[in-house]
Amino acid sequence: MAASFPLDTWYAAAWSHALGAELLAREIAGLRVVLYRRADGRPVALDDACWHRLLPLSMGRLDGEDVVCGYHGLRFDPDGRCVFMPSQETVNPSAHVPARPVVERHGLVWLWPGDPALADPATVPDFGLADHPGWVGPDREYALACGFQLVVDNLLDLTHETFVHASSIGNAAVAEAPFETTHRGTEVSLTRWMTDIDPPPFFAAHLGRPGRVDRWQIIRYQAPATVTIDVGVALTGTGAPQGDRSQGITMQVMHTVTPSTEGTCRFFWKLVRDYSLDDPSLTRRLFEDSETVLAEDKRILEAQQRALEAHPDRAFYDLNIDAAAVWSRRIAEEMIAAEADGPAPTGPLA
Ligand code: FES
Ligand SMILES: [Fe+2]
Repeated sequence: MAASFPLDTWYAAAWSHALGAELLAREIAGLRVVLYRRADGRPVALDDACWHRLLPLSMGRLDGEDVVCGYHGLRFDPDGRCVFMPSQETVNPSAHVPARPVVERHGLVWLWPGDPALADPATVPDFGLADHPGWVGPDREYALACGFQLVVDNLLDLTHETFVHASSIGNAAVAEAPFETTHRGTEVSLTRWMTDIDPPPFFAAHLGRPGRVDRWQIIRYQAPATVTIDVGVALTGTGAPQGDRSQGITMQVMHTVTPSTEGTCRFFWKLVRDYSLDDPSLTRRLFEDSETVLAEDKRILEAQQRALEAHPDRAFYDLNIDAAAVWSRRIAEEMIAAEADGPAPTGPLA
């Protein structure tokens, strides 16, 4: 069966701050790799199976810049070449494990699990504000027991906030307000304005001022699994829909999802703000508030995955609210089909 995720693309492997001098095992789009940093800090990813008897190299140890297998001591350099074999003078010149393309950008280490010859660092998703000096905030990485597309669907349809996150960021306005979806090439965007509404509890607390608000959600999807959302509220009548957000608060919520297997993924989340930059207690509060919201999503997504597996004969039905998710699925399917056909796509898909 063909995989349900593209391989010739960049996926987040780890937050930069989570990768150090220790071996880190990850499964990325069905590929098991071991990651670490070289002495100069450059990230390395090798296939996580020894050339000799396939023991995961992540069960071995790092010695300088080399990985030493934990079974019989074969030693591999950062290019994956075997540089030592026990009890023999010469090293079989073909002994190696594949090294995978990795790039560090926007505070994340990205890995290309497909054909290394196609790995172009210029195509790493734009996660720009994640490491912008004018924006700060908490980040998190979650292992989820659901396919990556379910998470993308969830992020592209925020009407679920009304029903899943009623106590924090949801209110009736999200499910009632109209929205506009556009798509271009491998990107989809969705914009929703909710004007003259009572702020939901999360935003009322963070705005810190009474009054009705205009609220916005501007979502950008970059195929196959990156979703960045510009969100905020401003006091009604102060011009936010026309571009003046000075009487409000803005946050950017960045998400990228890495399929591990068909039914599991890793979810990277970061929420940044452009105000109160030197207030670690606010960062902590945003982290704690968001933990509750993300736990609510996790509960739903994992139950949805179990239901999918229990009902393989059942199909999904699409509503108006699913427009952006339908586009994202279509783009991902075209990427997968293009890989099956041979050369990578060269032009716009839509
Ligand atoms: S399995 Fe790695 S050295 Fe034998
Ligand atoms: Fe949610």
